[in-house]
Amino acid sequence: MKKVFAAAALAALSTSPVQAEELFWNGTIKQVFEKQCSSCHGSGAPEYAAFKKDREGWISKGAGMRMDTYSHLISFVGWPNTGALMRRLDDGSSSKEGKPGNMYRYLGADEQERQANLTLFKHWVGSWNLKRWSDVSREELDGIKARY
Ligand code: HEC
Repeated sequence: MKKVFAAAALAALSTSPVQAEELFWNGTIKQVFEKQCSSCHGSGAPEYAAFKKDREGWISKGAGMRMDTYSHLISFVGWPNTGALMRRLDDGSSSKEGKPGNMYRYLGADEQERQANLTLFKHWVGSWNLKRWSDVSREELDGIKARY
């Protein structure tokens, strides 16, 4: 029994190296974010509330809301903006309409890079579901890892 389990675990390890190891924000995710997202969501970008006050103004300056620290980013995963990161980055395969989120295109220069980076974000978040706070279940929230 133990042997069978070990063999299965080994097979899983060899077929998907990304799934096998834990991902942390302070490493892989931060690096991807800096490369793909921080030009608009970096330290010069406003807090979410400030962004919302002058949405069009900030967008015209090429800025989104600030997300470049763990504390900022996590608020778009768990709470208060539950699932926002997942809704925006999804390639369409987890959404009812099958439409990619509008930040998916920033994940990479080509489809291969976008898919590779999406896999990293998915693995980091853990439970990849697109629901908002009002619809998400306790079990689904428990599935969120998003480790520092
Ligand atoms: C060219 C600028 C730009 C880049 C690059 C960019 N974003 Fe955005 N992002 C925006 C703007 C502007 C908004 C606000 C408008 C909107 O809601 O679409 C936004 C909104 C978002 C939101 C929604 C926040 C909310 O709940 O209202 C998330 C999540 C997000 N971006 C994540 C990302 C991630 C992750 C990346 C990198 C893969 C990224 N963005 C790259 C400009 C950008």
